[in-house]
Amino acid sequence: MQILIKNGTVVRSTGRKKADVLVKNGRIAKIAPAIEAEADRVIDATGCYVFAGFIDTHTHFDLDLGVTVTADDFETGTKAAIVGGTTTVLDFATQDRGMTMHDALELWHKKADGRSSCNYGFHMAVSEWNDDRKAEVDDMFKAGISSFKMYMVYPAMKVSDGQIYDAQKFIGERGGVIGVHCENFDVLQARIAEEKAVGHTDPTAHPRTRPQAVEAEGVARLMRIAELSKSPAWVVHLSTADGLSEVRAARKRGVEVYAETCPQYITLDVSRYADPDGAKFVMSPPLREAKDRAAILDGMKKKDIDFIGTDHCSFTMEQKALGRDDFSKIPNGGAGVQNRAELVYTYAVETGAITLEQMALLLSERAARLFGMYPKKGVLRTGSDADIVVFDPNDPHTISWKTNLHACDNSPYEGMRVSGRTRDVILNGTLVVENGRLIRPNCGKYVFRNPCERYRK
Ligand code: URP
Ligand code: ZN
Ligand code: ZN
Repeated sequence: MQILIKNGTVVRSTGRKKADVLVKNGRIAKIAPAIEAEADRVIDATGCYVFAGFIDTHTHFDLDLGVTVTADDFETGTKAAIVGGTTTVLDFATQDRGMTMHDALELWHKKADGRSSCNYGFHMAVSEWNDDRKAEVDDMFKAGISSFKMYMVYPAMKVSDGQIYDAQKFIGERGGVIGVHCENFDVLQARIAEEKAVGHTDPTAHPRTRPQAVEAEGVARLMRIAELSKSPAWVVHLSTADGLSEVRAARKRGVEVYAETCPQYITLDVSRYADPDGAKFVMSPPLREAKDRAAILDGMKKKDIDFIGTDHCSFTMEQKALGRDDFSKIPNGGAGVQNRAELVYTYAVETGAITLEQMALLLSERAARLFGMYPKKGVLRTGSDADIVVFDPNDPHTISWKTNLHACDNSPYEGMRVSGRTRDVILNGTLVVENGRLIRPNCGKYVFRNPCERYRK
């Protein structure tokens, strides 16, 4: 199968140029001006940008919270992902207490294998850290998992600072990295109790319980733990100006930190919790203020932020109503996996905050590098996997859950205008999205990942 993409502008982190791209047997065979070659399919990309397939570093599909299960599973979530230009998702396989990592890995393969419309890999989220779990880590690397996650919050998942310290050393020595959800659990619990004590039950209380200092304290603590363990750290879903300052200060001290943010922290405002459907914005960390959005955009511009994941963790409004009378019982998370590229293009590139080249870096290259997929993924280069996005910057439209392919009846981005959209997607050398329509579902493959490329070491 040969595909020839003609007349587009090829965008890489190092620059952009008019070039054609020839795809052969699942790989990129040639990138050059005016390629003349036989092809089964010619795609005219005039006026479009051609990117390496986007990588979403942070999704939660088919995640069982105990009280309810996310609205999107791999089938629906990866359909939404691929039409939005995401050719690989890294989802959090989750080792609940009483389970082994092997159990969690097997379970996540059952959830994803044969049902995914984009490629997928797993981070291993661990809820406990002891000798039994440590004994499993080498097998995880052998199974293609080089990244892990720990939470400072959520009673069912929370680990101690000492466990993070020990896990960082153990996993860091083996070439892995641990993403940490950074918030101060005890303080936010106390603030939830304070809000409830004065009768506040609605979603507007949610951000008050987790102001920026709750995140910044968690980030500062993680930075110090990494300094002590002499290991890399990955801050997941960074949302605040103060949290970013902690990352920058730690780097100045020589700490090796990788920072991830999400589209919601550059596009949505904390005032949205007062909307009639404010529950759909209940996620942790919460939406922030203008100064935080400006700081995160500045972090992207200055390359202090490494990559952008969506933290797609979707629930229907009926599920969100579990917290109708108590905001702290609203399932945390929102949908976003389909809209990341068009949001970043519209609200970061078009506004002049970042360049197209930085978009390529933030949505694909750096994730591929840290998470052990580069240069097969994350770059348009001869020999790389043919995961390719043709992005049309001139296709204005309005985001709506009704037209999104995700399975829940809401979107945090409902009604937002975006200027462009993913038009065509090639996945593993096959055209799977054409003119914004998924024409070949279920073509996703498991991505076996190598140890992390620690490019900030
Ligand atoms: O609210 C969120 N982010 N839910 C998903 C789990 C997490 O904290 O990443
Ligand atoms: Zn989290
Ligand atoms: Zn998450």
